[in-house]
Amino acid sequence: MLLPPEGHEPVLLGQVLNYLAPGPGQTFVDCTLGRGGHALAIAQRLGQTGLLIGLEADPRNLRYAADRLKASACPTRLFHANFSQLKQVLAEVGRDQVHGILADLGVSTNQLFDPAYGLSFDQPMPLDMRLDPDLPRTAADLVNHLPESELARVLYELAQERYSRRIARKIVESREVSPIKTTEALAELVRSAIPRWAGPVRIDPATRTFLALRMAVNREMENLTALLREAPAALAAGGRIAVISFQSTEDRAVKQAFGSLEKTGVMSILTKKPLTPTPEEMACNPRSRSAKMRVAVKKSCSLLVASC
Ligand SMILES: C[S@@+](CC[C@H](N)C(=O)[O-])C[C@H]1O[C@@H](n2cnc3c(N)ncnc32)[C@H](O)[C@@H]1O
Repeated sequence: MLLPPEGHEPVLLGQVLNYLAPGPGQTFVDCTLGRGGHALAIAQRLGQTGLLIGLEADPRNLRYAADRLKASACPTRLFHANFSQLKQVLAEVGRDQVHGILADLGVSTNQLFDPAYGLSFDQPMPLDMRLDPDLPRTAADLVNHLPESELARVLYELAQERYSRRIARKIVESREVSPIKTTEALAELVRSAIPRWAGPVRIDPATRTFLALRMAVNREMENLTALLREAPAALAAGGRIAVISFQSTEDRAVKQAFGSLEKTGVMSILTKKPLTPTPEEMACNPRSRSAKMRVAVKKSCSLLVASC
């Protein structure tokens, strides 16, 4: 697959703009700046009287997005920060509440391709997987040091890997001989752990193991839970949040969080079913295939009072 011109093609861009409806003078947060595709389109709509607050865990993507955002007249405040720190970032900017929040979860295409991130098994790379180089543990640390039962739990809980125990056993047997250091070595091990009777497979058997390890290294579920907890208070009445996820564990968490916020009368869900890319978008950008976007709006004060 070729790298898109900016290193990443923003997914569901039209739907993001339609549902979040950024307008002149408003304040928006892009929790996952990435290569700045969504952020630039939003900033252009906020205009010179608006404010775009951007967060990004990866300082390399942050630099790229910051540069790209110079093309818009909208003022920006950009942070090397995890979106679990949304509340602290807003306090730093001096804004309690904003009109819109976007979180486009996971990784950008350039991160998958660049050996420095150690995310992909398509080519040999050091087994790292940290999006933020300040994080304490790499994927190599996890596979070489986690107890076997913990490894199996991570694979099963984060990526529903049905052969989690076999894979964990194989990893432990292998690391007793020598440490596992590359994505290629780990992928080979995983493939060899899948039983022959499993039959032909649609995706590479290493896919789920790699997803689970990336999520564990970057604490992706913990961060998403924190964001979903903090976001409602950070939205002004009528403010909207859109979350784009690429796998079922995350989408379920977003669906449940929005569902309970609707039940308690804090938010209304705008997407009863998640929005997905059109066949045209999938054809142009195959990585968009698994994207699901859910959007919710914060109820106004009067509605809040009425529902209490
Ligand atoms: C799918 S990409 C976003 C692409 C972006 N919307 C664009 O148009 O270029 C996800 C980005 O979020 C960053 N990221 C992932 N988890 C994060 C977190 N918890 N806090 C901040 N950034 C995060 C990744 O480093 C990556 O750059």
